[in-house]
Amino acid sequence: MDDLRRAGRTAADLVADHLGGLTGRPVWQPVGDADRAWLTGQPLPAAGRPLGDLLDDVRDRIMPHPMGNGHPRFFGWVNSAPSPAAIAVSSLGAALNPSCAGGDHAGALLERSVVRWLAELVGFPHRPGGGLLTSGASMATIIALASARQRAARADGWDVRTDGLAGHRPLVMYASAEGHGCLRKAAELLGIGSRHLRTVPVDGAFRLDADALRAMIVDDAAAGLRPFCVAASAGTVNTGTIDPLDAIADIAAEHGLWFHVDGAYGALGILDERIRPAFAGWERADSVVLDPHKWLGVPVDCGCVLLRDPAAARDAFSLVPAYLRDDTAGDLGWFAEYGPEQTRPFRALRVWATISHLGRDGIVDLVERTAALAHELAAMIEAADDFELLTPVSTSITAFRYRPTALAAAALDDLNRAVPAAVQRRGRAFLTGTRLGGVEALRACFLNPATTHDDLAVLLDEIRAAA
Ligand SMILES: Cc1ncc(COP(=O)(O)O)c(C=O)c1O
Repeated sequence: MDDLRRAGRTAADLVADHLGGLTGRPVWQPVGDADRAWLTGQPLPAAGRPLGDLLDDVRDRIMPHPMGNGHPRFFGWVNSAPSPAAIAVSSLGAALNPSCAGGDHAGALLERSVVRWLAELVGFPHRPGGGLLTSGASMATIIALASARQRAARADGWDVRTDGLAGHRPLVMYASAEGHGCLRKAAELLGIGSRHLRTVPVDGAFRLDADALRAMIVDDAAAGLRPFCVAASAGTVNTGTIDPLDAIADIAAEHGLWFHVDGAYGALGILDERIRPAFAGWERADSVVLDPHKWLGVPVDCGCVLLRDPAAARDAFSLVPAYLRDDTAGDLGWFAEYGPEQTRPFRALRVWATISHLGRDGIVDLVERTAALAHELAAMIEAADDFELLTPVSTSITAFRYRPTALAAAALDDLNRAVPAAVQRRGRAFLTGTRLGGVEALRACFLNPATTHDDLAVLLDEIRAAA
């Protein structure tokens, strides 16, 4: 145990040195040949090594090559800095090492609290058992859509688990062109087929067009198909846009569709009173997905699905063989009955620590600060004559492009497509690109409350220099 105690202390120092020294290092840098060869080509060790040696390798070979999230000038994708509280408890969770499939132990019990906390934070009605933690939003989406699929089958008098999909009216779901790719992956995996995932057009602000949705549902039903689910976004990955949730909720109710909302990134936006009005109708969803490993800063591997009716997910997944029987489990049973995973990690500890450390007030502050940064960058872009804002800020993402003096459209696209990688290589800031409304775009996602006004100025200068 002395070895472990020493290693734990060394690891704590490495963590503090890493996080404390972030701003003095490049946000990201390419991995050099020697370390790349080491990282990818290590032979399987025949004999073991002392813990201290391993930590030397971690310090020298692994920690110098972070992805970059954590640094205040990381603006890529949707990847946050890790919550210090969650870091502090991570090894304790590993020391306990429970499977949170279920059972009577702290791991499974604490998950009940944190799921309820998450629901309360984002104003979603919570019933005991109405949600579970997952690896991320992709898995959470699979659980939500499988529940929707089973509910539709039941309503039509069949059971997708025993019958499969063959021989029934094709199930059809709806999402906008800005919906996340995890919706399509789930539709394909669940046998809906991407052909039956209708792409609803968006309006000029990248919001799902509710009138078009209604017309598509009517057409599909008239053609003998079975519309069963609409997936709206509360914070799209490209622009942070929030779909017209209230109107979509009305349409879902009118046509008996499951109303799913992807709030993987944006759900916490509801805590900012300037963003909150856009969430009207969100509480009417049948399922909501939100990722604690995004805006909240819980270290990666933590999504969550919240369900209006927990029974729907249990009906879609519950399978309790004799060796897993637990006559003391109570009405809710085990978490493993609500999703595909059996052995489940102790994610709740990291969520509990993060929320406990920040408190609701701290989380509101985090959201407001980062949303304000996105607005500030948008204002800087509008004031500059070599940048163009592509859409107003909805949550904490600024979507824009670099637009120096009269360049032809194709050249502008080429330039903006090349900019992110060039900025990344320079090491002073990190942003990523996308395609938006037919043009190559840049997007900066703000999740880190340590980002400052000066960091925004550096970002714009780095884009200019890289271009
Ligand atoms: C809006 C949105 N939905 C879903 C996902 C998928 O989440 P995960 O990567 O946690 O599976 C993402 C990831 O960035 C996202 O931004």
